[in-house]
Amino acid sequence: MTRSYRFPADFVWGAATSAYQIEGSPLADGAGPSIWRRFAHTPGMMANGDTGDIACDHYRRYKDDVQLMRALGLQSYRFSVAWGRVLPDGIGRINPKGLDFYSRLVDELLENDIEPTATLFHWDLPAALDDRGGWLNRDSAQWFAEYAEVLFKALDGRVKRWYTINEPWVVTDGGYLHGALAPGHRNKYEAPIATHNLMRASGAGIQAYRAVGHHEIGVVFNIEPKYPASNRPEDIAATRRAHAYMNEQFADPALLGTYPPELKEIFGDAWPDFPAEDFQLTKQPVDFVGINYYTRSVVRHDDAAYPTKASPVRQRNKTHTETGWEVYEKGLGDTLKWFKDRYGDIPLYVTENGAAFYDPPVAESDVVEDPLRTAYLRTHLRALHECIESGVNLKGYYAWSLLDNLEWSLGFSKRFGLYHVNFETQERTPKASAKFYAQVIESQGAVLSK
Ligand code: BGC
Repeated sequence: MTRSYRFPADFVWGAATSAYQIEGSPLADGAGPSIWRRFAHTPGMMANGDTGDIACDHYRRYKDDVQLMRALGLQSYRFSVAWGRVLPDGIGRINPKGLDFYSRLVDELLENDIEPTATLFHWDLPAALDDRGGWLNRDSAQWFAEYAEVLFKALDGRVKRWYTINEPWVVTDGGYLHGALAPGHRNKYEAPIATHNLMRASGAGIQAYRAVGHHEIGVVFNIEPKYPASNRPEDIAATRRAHAYMNEQFADPALLGTYPPELKEIFGDAWPDFPAEDFQLTKQPVDFVGINYYTRSVVRHDDAAYPTKASPVRQRNKTHTETGWEVYEKGLGDTLKWFKDRYGDIPLYVTENGAAFYDPPVAESDVVEDPLRTAYLRTHLRALHECIESGVNLKGYYAWSLLDNLEWSLGFSKRFGLYHVNFETQERTPKASAKFYAQVIESQGAVLSK
C-alpha cells in the first residue's frame, strides 16, 4: 500500500524572504543605511560587486509579489523588517514612511488571505548602531527592545506571529569571527560578546512583547546536525564541539539559560564568564521556535580548523547544492527530534528550507525546469511528515525562498527561489518547483506519495 503523506489540516504552508535580500531601495523614504548596505558598497566584499540597491525591487513591487504568493496558494508569508527603515538611527526618531511600507505589505497579505509572520532582525543592523559598537555594545539589547516595541505597537493584531532574531550563529560566525558577512570583523574576542548580546537582545524583545503584544513570539535558529566521520574518539569529540559551536551556542542560552561547556574549550580565554543574571534575560519563555534547516555536516578532528578544530568531510556520491551543501533530508528529521529531546515539547516551525541549484535560462517556455530543487522539496517534506507522525510538534513549513534573491556576499549567483527572477528586467517566472509546491499545498501533502 502506498504511504499517505497528508499533513494535519491546521499545518501552515508558507515561504520566506528577508528584507535586504529582496527589497531594494535601501535608502528610500528616509530609511537609514544598514551595515549590509555599507558592506555591499565596500569594494571586494560581494561576488561580482552585487548589492541590494535594487535586488528584487520588492519595495516597489510588493503587490505583484503577493500575487505570486497567492498563485502558490501560500497560507503564510515570512518576511523581515529592515530596522533602519523604521528607525533610521536605530533608536529614537521613528520614520513613519518606513513603518508604513510594512503596514501596507501586511494589509496586502491579509486582503489576499495570507497570514503575515514577521522577523524583526535578519542581519541588517542600522549602520548608526554599528557606529556605537553594534552587537558588541551591551546596550544593543535595549536598542532592539525599543525597535521591537515600535513594531509591536504598530502591527500586532495584524501580525500574530513574530520572530526576534534570525540565525544568530550566522551573525556571530560570519559577521564577527570570519568576516565574510557584515560587519566583516575577524576577532575571536568579539564573537562571544556578539553571541551573548544577540541572545540578550532576543530575550529583551520577547520581554517587550509580553508587555504590549497579544499573540505569539519566538526566535529562529539555523540548526545543522553534526555526525562523526568515524568512531575514533577524537572525531566524536570534534563532532561535539562543532555541534556546541553552531547549534547549542544559541539555543541553550535561549531555552536552558546556560552555554554548553565546549565553548570554553573552543574559545579559551576569549570566552568570558558572563554575569549569571544575564541568563534570566536570555531565557524568556517562547511560544514557538523557528528552525532553518539546509544541510548536515560529517565531522573529523582537524587541528587547523578554526575555531572548533573540527572539519567537515565532503560526502562522496551524494548530491550537493550550488552552495556546496550535501542534500540530506534525514538530517531534518534528526534535527527536529534532537530539538525536542533537548529542549522539550516546544511548538516548532521550519522557517527556512531550500536549495540553490543551477537553473537553465528562461526560454520560451513559461516554466523553469528545476528537477533537483523539486526533488529536494519532495524528500524534505516527506521527512517532515514522518517527523510529525513520530510525535514532533511541528506546526508549519516555510520554503526558502519565494524569489531568487541576493544571497548575501555571494550576490545573485546562487538561486534559491521558487520563482526565477531576471535581475535585468525584474521579470518573475515560476519554476517547476513552484508548481510542485502549489500542488503539495493544495493536496495538503497527498501529492508527496507520488
Ligand atoms: C538565511 C538566508 C539565506 C539562506 C541560504 C539562511 O542562512 O536565513 O538569509 O539566504 O540561509 O543561505
